[in-house]
Amino acid sequence: MDFLIIQAPKGTRDLAGADVQEFSRLEEIARHVFALFDFQEIRTPIFEAAELFSRSLGETTDVVEKEMFQFEDRGERVYALRPEGTAGVVRYFVENNLAVKGDHHRFYYQGPMFRAERPQAGRYRQFLQIGSELFGPLEATADADTVLLLCEILQRYGVGDFSLHVNSLGCKACRPKHREQLLAYLKKREKELTEDSRRRMAANPLRVLDSKVDGPKLKDAPAMRDFLCPECAAHNRQCLSLVRLAGVPIEENPKLVRGLDYYTRTVFEIVSPHLGAQNALAAGGRYDDLVELLGGPSMPAVGFALGEDRVVESHLKVKAASAALGPVKGKAFVIAMLEEAVDDVFSLAQALRKAGFSVPPILSAKKKLKNQLSLASDFGAAWALIVGEDELKNKTVSVKNLKTREQVAVPKDDVIHHLLK
Ligand code: HAM
Repeated sequence: MDFLIIQAPKGTRDLAGADVQEFSRLEEIARHVFALFDFQEIRTPIFEAAELFSRSLGETTDVVEKEMFQFEDRGERVYALRPEGTAGVVRYFVENNLAVKGDHHRFYYQGPMFRAERPQAGRYRQFLQIGSELFGPLEATADADTVLLLCEILQRYGVGDFSLHVNSLGCKACRPKHREQLLAYLKKREKELTEDSRRRMAANPLRVLDSKVDGPKLKDAPAMRDFLCPECAAHNRQCLSLVRLAGVPIEENPKLVRGLDYYTRTVFEIVSPHLGAQNALAAGGRYDDLVELLGGPSMPAVGFALGEDRVVESHLKVKAASAALGPVKGKAFVIAMLEEAVDDVFSLAQALRKAGFSVPPILSAKKKLKNQLSLASDFGAAWALIVGEDELKNKTVSVKNLKTREQVAVPKDDVIHHLLK
């Protein structure tokens, strides 16, 4: 009897042997870096109510309009295979009322995502992502930590050079003005636009800028950058400056709008020169309104996701070497007691992580020392490293041993050496 051989579905692929090892190595390096930033793993279902995605990502996005694998179960409930990881994590956050259980939650995830896109090199219908979501801080330090965490994974795994594009999409206060101007600009050019863009224009004019066909035609469209309110502009400046301070170059890209609706303020994308048309290795940004949109309280958040398939491809193409994994040497909690100390404390946290210590992202300098110290103990930190007015003046850091409660002032440059003793 002749049977037709059944093939793997279009846009999917099998991974076996050495290929699996390559993905596992990337995942292992990512886990190590997440431990250095003190993020916890989360595993959410690979299918969710379809409405979760349409509400979170936006009704007029390509992902929701054209790319979801949607199905009904026997009870006529409509589900979708997850096209991305953020919506599920936020759903978990809201459903479990995590906002009342502290104001600082950090998760990372790894797993398959599904989008019914036209398959091509670097674009699959089932692909793997590694990502993180950090809830709580409104400060730009959280955006910068997220970007640096991502860069640390890429550099340690080895993907060759890459460029980091950053933009700000503003907030509820400053977006309407931009939207109005953008809409007026698009109306003037309506005839040149595709059917899709004309339909999406009124609901969300930013989507038109993101269109693969129309986007390149609209180079002189009003840029959000010129409409940022003072708070968003300051947030953007601080984020750029902290990432640069850590030695990572940034290309400010006023055209970067992203393909999902939930973003506010910072958005970023990492692009590889070693890949073909699908050259985005990773992307993410801040989404301060999504928790509320899904029924939770007001809760700022920021995250990223990298595409494992593309990251592995870039690694293999440039024949990069991966960094060896060392042990995590202990947990330290860094505290800035005033705004002027934030840059120093942020850099100290980065240096400690590079030296193998686990250091959670820095909290707001407005938070009381007593509260920060009790959080440090909750997180199981061995030391709290504090910089206030005196320490700034004397170029020292106060190192508090959280077990013995002893505190000593250590010169700024000797802190790592002191902890290693
Ligand atoms: P995204 O830009 O849609 O963001 O996807 C992130 C990364 O996933 C892309 O940069 C790319 O490397 C990879 N990727 C996306 N689609 C495909 C595909 N069809 N085939 C292969 N790789 C693909 C998000 O998913 C957001 N959830 C990121 C985020 C997290 N924002 C905040 N938190």
